Amino acid sequence: MNHQGQTAPVLTIDGPSGSGKGSISKCVAEKLGWHYLDSGALYRALGIAAIKEGVDVANEDALAALIQDIELEFKRSDLGHWAVFLNGEEVQDQLQTEAVGNTASKIAVFPKVRSGLLAKQRTFQIAPGLVADGRDMGSVVFPNAKFKVYLTASAEERGKRRYKQLIEKGINANLSSVIQDIQERDERDKNRSESPLVIPEGATYIDSSSSEIDEVVLTVLDLLENTKKL
Ligand code: DC
Repeated sequence: MNHQGQTAPVLTIDGPSGSGKGSISKCVAEKLGWHYLDSGALYRALGIAAIKEGVDVANEDALAALIQDIELEFKRSDLGHWAVFLNGEEVQDQLQTEAVGNTASKIAVFPKVRSGLLAKQRTFQIAPGLVADGRDMGSVVFPNAKFKVYLTASAEERGKRRYKQLIEKGINANLSSVIQDIQERDERDKNRSESPLVIPEGATYIDSSSSEIDEVVLTVLDLLENTKKL
């Protein structure tokens, strides 16, 4: 049951940057006909808001106050795809840059930022079900989730995937610095005192280093079916 007394089932997919959890979560949600929460997008959008409003990203209280002032929504854009809107403006394209990812990782260490975004995340638990991806979905936001996955891959493999995406988008990149960036972000996400990236209790551990997305999607769907039978 969630904090509004709802009982919609939740599948949490936690893991480090570049583990493929975004693509896999979206695909699983689509196959199940469930809602999807990209929690990283909330931290990223807050980072964009801070930069736009000139709020110091090292100032925890100012960031917590900013959360109260902004409107964050996930809805369909005019082109029909799901997108994040900040104060009514679509910011989906701005979310995926390395700079915004790094800002998100830095502001995500602050307890007041995390607690400020908690209630928003829990509003996504609605019927017929929710697939939630992030770092603390199974440990903090939805600890009672019926289905939990921890998805990872080696830093090297995750760096290669990220590098390929950047090159495909025509963005100049250097493989070793992309891998180094990923390792630094892992360190920050795993070692912060508030809601660090952990393998949640009861989660199934999946290493996707040598698997294609489709294979992992099938593994997750099988896991759901098998857990339902328990
Ligand atoms: O999943 P992502 O790369 O979009 O997330 C960006 C950053 O946001 C990530 O480095 C850490 C933070 N984050 C978090 O702390 N907790 C979450 N549930 C999701 C993201």
